[in-house]
Amino acid sequence: MNSISRMQQLFLCGCAAIVMALSLRAAEIPREHLSLDANWKFHLGDDWPRAQDLSKAGASSGPAAEKFTDDTWRTVNLPHDWAVELPFEKSADRNHGFKALGPGFAANNTGWYRRTFELAKEDEGKRIWLTFDGVFRDATVWVNGWLVSRHESGYCPLRRDITDAVRFGGKNLVTVRANATEFEGWFYEGAGIYRHVWLDKTGPVAIAPDGVFVYSKFKNNAPSDQTEINVEANVLNTLTNTATSTVKCEILSPDGRSVANFKQSEKVKGESQQTVKLASKISAPVLWSPENPKLYKLITTVSVGGKVVDEKETAFGIRTVAFDKDKGFLLNGQPYVLKGTCNHQDHAGVGAAIPDALQSFRIAKLKEMGCNAYRTSHNPPTPELLDACDRLGMIVMDENRLLGSDPENLDKFGDQILRDRNHPSVCIWSVANEEFSVQSTPQGGNAARTMQNYVKRLDPTRPVTYAAPQGDTFDGVNGVIEVRGWNYHVGKDMDSYHAKHPDQPNVGTEQASVVGTRGIYEDDAKRGYVRAYDNRGRDTAEAWWSYFAARPWLSGAFVWTGFDYRGEPTPYGWPCISSHFGILDTCGFPKDSFYYYQSWWTTNIVLHLLPHWNWPGKEGEEIRVDAFSNCKEVELFLNSESLGKQAMKLNSKLTWKVKYAPGTLSAKGFDSAGKVIAETKIETTGEPVSVMLTRDLTGLSKAVKADGEDLAVFTVSAVDAQGREVPTAQNKIAFALEGAGKLIGVGNGDPSCHEPDVFLASDTRTVPVNGWRYKVVDSFPTKSDASSPLLNAGLDESDWNVVKPGTCANLGEMPLYEGRMAVYRVHLQLSEEDLSAPGVRIQFYGCNNHGWYFVNGQLVGESRKWEDQPLFDIKQHLHPGDNVIAVGVQHGGRWGGLNPNVLLEIQPKASAVNWSRSLFNGLAQVIVQSTKAPGEIKLTATADGLKPATATVETHSAPLRPFAP
Ligand code: GAL
Repeated sequence: MNSISRMQQLFLCGCAAIVMALSLRAAEIPREHLSLDANWKFHLGDDWPRAQDLSKAGASSGPAAEKFTDDTWRTVNLPHDWAVELPFEKSADRNHGFKALGPGFAANNTGWYRRTFELAKEDEGKRIWLTFDGVFRDATVWVNGWLVSRHESGYCPLRRDITDAVRFGGKNLVTVRANATEFEGWFYEGAGIYRHVWLDKTGPVAIAPDGVFVYSKFKNNAPSDQTEINVEANVLNTLTNTATSTVKCEILSPDGRSVANFKQSEKVKGESQQTVKLASKISAPVLWSPENPKLYKLITTVSVGGKVVDEKETAFGIRTVAFDKDKGFLLNGQPYVLKGTCNHQDHAGVGAAIPDALQSFRIAKLKEMGCNAYRTSHNPPTPELLDACDRLGMIVMDENRLLGSDPENLDKFGDQILRDRNHPSVCIWSVANEEFSVQSTPQGGNAARTMQNYVKRLDPTRPVTYAAPQGDTFDGVNGVIEVRGWNYHVGKDMDSYHAKHPDQPNVGTEQASVVGTRGIYEDDAKRGYVRAYDNRGRDTAEAWWSYFAARPWLSGAFVWTGFDYRGEPTPYGWPCISSHFGILDTCGFPKDSFYYYQSWWTTNIVLHLLPHWNWPGKEGEEIRVDAFSNCKEVELFLNSESLGKQAMKLNSKLTWKVKYAPGTLSAKGFDSAGKVIAETKIETTGEPVSVMLTRDLTGLSKAVKADGEDLAVFTVSAVDAQGREVPTAQNKIAFALEGAGKLIGVGNGDPSCHEPDVFLASDTRTVPVNGWRYKVVDSFPTKSDASSPLLNAGLDESDWNVVKPGTCANLGEMPLYEGRMAVYRVHLQLSEEDLSAPGVRIQFYGCNNHGWYFVNGQLVGESRKWEDQPLFDIKQHLHPGDNVIAVGVQHGGRWGGLNPNVLLEIQPKASAVNWSRSLFNGLAQVIVQSTKAPGEIKLTATADGLKPATATVETHSAPLRPFAP
């Protein structure tokens, strides 16, 4: 047996005591922040178009109703984007990446989600909040059949206090209908619940949602040895009596020391909220910056009558920001050039549904090239993106969706500000982007002024800009906005504007829009590829960056874009489905221009050559070779023979014309003393012989957490006999995964690739049963009867009444009055293929009051109440060809009849799901997510004619995010 010393015992007892004290305290505080991400049931299709019933509370039907059966629906975990699962269609919207979504694709535009959660009896008395960080879009939300929200925005959070609608001591149901028919932007936007969903529990007196604001203030906004910390805590009292609340704040430094404790008591009237303002001082503050992203922690507690009723942790940073008319952006009082990129939320494999770990991966990729700023074009971001920016060090321009000062727009912008204003990464708000129709009008100016004033009320610490596409124009928004934003217009307009308005600070909100396809060095209009040399006239990285670098008052800028994204294929259309503006492709594989920026945006020694050196058939032809480097001189060699040394100009690049011969193209980089400080080479490779799998750990931890969320990202390539990656390889690779993980997406950065990003097992097919007719009768059979004309084929129904489909969400046609009966009939034409399904079910949505249900004369069941939604498996009674479904209805109330919104569900055959992806110019990406059980993940990649590759990763037990069962 191991023996432990007295000291160790004391230490362990001490630790146990602290843990117990903490957990006791946690148990006393009602606040719980629970994930609702796992185990949603999902169905694609507008199969219950009349589910929403506005006539009575709780009267909605279909999936909105509690009694609905969703057991054949697919199970999905959030975040989820169903657009990424859809095929590409030439007739679909180009700007949204030709996904079969939106106008013309009605069958794909509506998604239904259902999830249950449990609340303990002991939770009674707490407030229960439901928050969707983002649903694209037009969400209708029901809780236990109650309609609790209609929320159109695809980007703003949706939060509701659902306390009144929930059931304590039992199961509760959330249903969401998302309708992505309309677009909000002109870029791929995804579809569905593509961000996290939360269930929050608080006591009746608690910190209001987004109710803590913490910010630091230095004298004259110049960092010094002491800073004032301001806290505004919004206390919400849902009780009817006044509560005297004491708000206590404790601040922990980045190294975990308690550096400030302060408190304040205030009365909060019943059924109202009160902002309690507190302040304290901190000495020797550690300043946050992209280079030193150190975070403080504020712990806010609320007590009433001496009892702690709430506690909340808020991460924040201490730093100052300002825009100076001459010096440009100032971070912590010093000029700080914004080396930024604009980005949409979209990644290969997963679309808009980016897991948190992938946010870190993407931010870390951008940082690798020296990028220090990120614009959330053109909408409120996902909160976890901001967490990654806080933690990894990335300045954020947080952009609102639309210009407008109407209450609805202001409320949306307000929600965004209240949610995001504690993030130190957020350094500037943008009221909108390129509002062509209104930006130069007085009304545009008015709206921008109102929005700007509103920002200042909610957040007095940050400047405001507008991403303006005009040149030297002061009309409208530009004339009122605090910081003039510049979308494009490198050239005389910026200088002349600055000369005319010297007191207005400036920032390059959007620049470049340089196009290039990774690994492509010759334009190919047919396939939609653009050469990746930085040589498209004035639209080059060098042109915009040299201009900005020479003008500190411009503050730097944000490149359009960091990553490629689906949609906006430019300059070509179909078959091209993605943009090429990125410095990295949709997977995050760098294009050559990555090294241009790395040369001038970092202090690393960089030497990069392009193109690749596999040009069979071009022997003797001239090929352009470029070097991106920050060395003072670069010498190029082909097969060890010097092709000349050239001096590198600041913020520039070098070019040679080289007669192609296979072999080794190499370069040496020299410093100003003529010393070799960098070397690189590109070799002509042989044919691919093996597949290679390499883990990409950028921004990710090596040890994968077995929490059902963490990721392992693999780069797939093909190597020749000498183990060299083949840059032109296009092999199709098949993937198989075993063990403690799941494949969640594949990609290759090819902007014209139409291969799927995800591979799904077939879904249940849902077919509306239309064509009902009815006849009022004196009697009908109530038992199986294979010969009754009313129940079987062969009846002339031409004089029967036609039922219009979808005539009433509740009861459809209701022709029956006191004591009457009717028979409803419909014909189903089924094929052998349909009937080879493992199950065929029919779902009814009510009949008033007593119904008898027949399939080809066989009684399959009865229902007695109009709220019943009977579901029958009827496969055994069906045959290929014509089938008759008949329902006998006897009314028992004021009116009666059958709800004709009937659905047939054809269940899919179980089949293996085979994942694959072609390499694009040598590369593909596989994204694997852990499960909650620790173990080994084994990924195998195979390709015809190549030696397969296997990679294994261990996942380790890790605390799970607290979740609602
Ligand atoms: C800008 C716009 C971006 C994108 C870009 C393409 O004007 O703000 O969203 O469309 O053009 O070059």
